[in-house]
Amino acid sequence: MASLTLDHPMSLAPLFLLFLAAFVLSVAASEHARVLEVEQYTRYCVLPYERPLYLKDLCINARCPRPCRRVLATIPELEYKLDRWEFATLIPHVIGNQTSETKALADPLLAAAVKKGGELPRCLAACAASLDDVSKVMSGLPAQIDGERYPKVESFLRGLFKSGSMPLLCKSSCPDKSCSVEENTIADKFHAIWALLDSVEPYADYFSPPPPLSRR
Ligand SMILES: *[C@@H]1O[C@H](CO)[C@@H](O)[C@H](O)[C@H]1NC(C)=O
Repeated sequence: MASLTLDHPMSLAPLFLLFLAAFVLSVAASEHARVLEVEQYTRYCVLPYERPLYLKDLCINARCPRPCRRVLATIPELEYKLDRWEFATLIPHVIGNQTSETKALADPLLAAAVKKGGELPRCLAACAASLDDVSKVMSGLPAQIDGERYPKVESFLRGLFKSGSMPLLCKSSCPDKSCSVEENTIADKFHAIWALLDSVEPYADYFSPPPPLSRR
């Protein structure tokens, strides 16, 4: 075999060409995959210049579009283009998480104030109650819209923004001059949560169960 190779080095040339061709093809294929990846990325990523319009569009039916846009601009998931269904699925989870985080600030302060006795700090009490209201409905939601928890989310949102209904206390009466630094922080966080509630309420239809199939 060895002598054959040495005597006829050219006999290896076709094999070499075959390897070369395979190599070139595989490079081309991976380059093609990379380009596809890039295309997908640019298709779904919201470019900086598109962002104001994207957020404006998402907030178009919010009661207060400006706070809506401001708070949506802070959500990393919205650096990508979501359709309305994806948006309606995302926001209750963001609300649930932010509510849990803010409750984790408020609840220990409230417990300490109760223990101390005397009059409770007004904003703290108001905001803890408002956070509880939101938390009951929005915390620990299943990843996907279901027929059990989400209809409650829908009616909660509808109730909050029904014409003539009062906003939750922490929104309507906090912060004010009586607030400590911590209470201000908690009230500000609740206002951001309120803006998120406002942002998703126009999409609350997505949370109702599909109508039952009629049987004939
Ligand atoms: C909410 O928190 C959970 C648990 O920490 C996390 O897995 C999830 O990604 C968060 N969702 C959003 C939308 O922030």
